[in-house]
Amino acid sequence: MRVVVTGGAGYIGSIVTEALLEDGHDVLVLDNLCKGHRDSVLANAAFVELDLREEHRVTKMLANFETDAVIHMAAFSLVGESVKSPGKYYENNLGAGVSLLEAMRSARVSKLVFSSTAAVYGEPLKQPIDETDPTVPTNPYGETKLAFEHALHWYARAHDLRSVSLRYFNAAGASVANGERHDPETHLIPLVLQAAAGRLPHVTIFGTDYPTRDGTCVRDYVHVEDLAQAHVRALALLGETGTCRAYNLGCGDGYTVKEIIATATEVTGRTIPVVTAPRRAGDPATLVASSASISRDLGWSPHQSLTEIITSAWQWMIRTGEAS
Ligand SMILES: NC(=O)c1ccc[n+]([C@@H]2O[C@H](COP(=O)([O-])OP(=O)(O)OC[C@H]3O[C@@H](n4cnc5c(N)ncnc54)[C@H](O)[C@@H]3O)[C@@H](O)[C@H]2O)c1
Repeated sequence: MRVVVTGGAGYIGSIVTEALLEDGHDVLVLDNLCKGHRDSVLANAAFVELDLREEHRVTKMLANFETDAVIHMAAFSLVGESVKSPGKYYENNLGAGVSLLEAMRSARVSKLVFSSTAAVYGEPLKQPIDETDPTVPTNPYGETKLAFEHALHWYARAHDLRSVSLRYFNAAGASVANGERHDPETHLIPLVLQAAAGRLPHVTIFGTDYPTRDGTCVRDYVHVEDLAQAHVRALALLGETGTCRAYNLGCGDGYTVKEIIATATEVTGRTIPVVTAPRRAGDPATLVASSASISRDLGWSPHQSLTEIITSAWQWMIRTGEAS
């Protein structure tokens, strides 16, 4: 297929691009580089520096590339920032997303895979979380992602747009070519590894009195390469009229913050300084996905362990000179 990846110069998008190329697709990356990196896009993918909000130029680009499908990953994704500046999130995650849908309509492109998030569930009542569980986001980030999922439902009815929304839990790890380069970094594994490398004075554990096996929060981590494979498989579902589905992407198992730090200590052989702090508002004790649906429908399951996730991220830091 000829696939456009929006946000393909970002962390996950660059590795999804690698997986698509490896699977024999032609890829064009569309990114305005507000967060992404030009050098994350492999040379055998085409690249256009463009903002999704430029609807007419996006339409032209989709038509000229003879696009079969779009993987829509471009977004802002800092939860705390979304609470402080909700307008920024409505404008980019919902407004720019709808501009993309209109551009797709004009260019007669009817297949889309969307990067959604566990944040659509808010504070779930049960674990592991199923796709049919209530979606009650607790911040504008989750709210705007859910609103875009709803837009996909109505576009399916009105315009036969076919879509698969993939609700990622925590993406982590690296490929040989690409890894996590967020600024600011808010994800636990890169922060722990930055502390191991001496680039941060310590890592902070927020809350040690949760009702979990060691008192710290449990989260579900998937290797970014496993995550990328789910996108390749999701494209196959889009042949059918009326497809509008949402799937969780997690490993069904969780790790506590202390278990992440212990594994990182083992992988790096370094001492990782830790400080503890009170719980943060809105952090549920446990967030773990049931991926039974995507496993049943697409035969997807994650293959890489926590040790492999952390090892790949650490090796990538060594290769890029961020750790020595
Ligand atoms: N990293 C995770 O663990 C995680 C978890 C759940 C969901 N997600 C979602 O996955 C997607 C990718 O996440 P990531 O961690 O790779 O983020 P990222 O910030 O590394 O990548 C996002 C990319 O989108 C681009 N972009 C943003 N707005 C744009 C616009 N208007 N026009 C063109 N390009 C634009 C940025 O320049 C960046 O390259 C996001 O949609 C995010 O919400 C990520």
